[in-house]
Amino acid sequence: MRLRILLAACTMWGALWTQAALAQQAAPVGDPAAAHKKIAMCEGCHGIPGYRTAYPEVYAVPKLGGQQPAYVLRALQAYKSGERSHPSMRGIASGLSEQDMADVAAYYGGVAK
Ligand code: HEC
Repeated sequence: MRLRILLAACTMWGALWTQAALAQQAAPVGDPAAAHKKIAMCEGCHGIPGYRTAYPEVYAVPKLGGQQPAYVLRALQAYKSGERSHPSMRGIASGLSEQDMADVAAYYGGVAK
């Protein structure tokens, strides 16, 4: 009897542990709706989605609208890790979580070109 309970407990614990491990590994799924609150600061430089910056003659800011979500995500991760070295984008990306980046990437990937 005791052994059975012990076995059941082990099985349950194992299942929970596996679930937790899976949850940690899974990349966050981007939610475009959640991005709305997060892109306010991006708009200042990247402009209205689909457009270039408000000040193209001052310095070039890449267009994000219509970009592949995977590309935007990868670019943000690269700024955060320092692989890409642009100072303002590094500062911005360092304040974004993986979930933020996934949401923002999904948003920009979904807007018209
Ligand atoms: C202070 C101005 C500024 C703000 C604010 C800003 N960006 Fe940028 N961003 C830039 C500039 C300038 C570049 C080009 C940098 C380079 O040459 O690497 C860039 C590049 C990027 C790129 C790479 C694009 C490409 O084609 O490689 C992505 C993605 C990006 N920004 C996303 C964002 C997101 C998301 C936000 C808001 C969370 C944001 N940016 C806020 C100025 C800004």
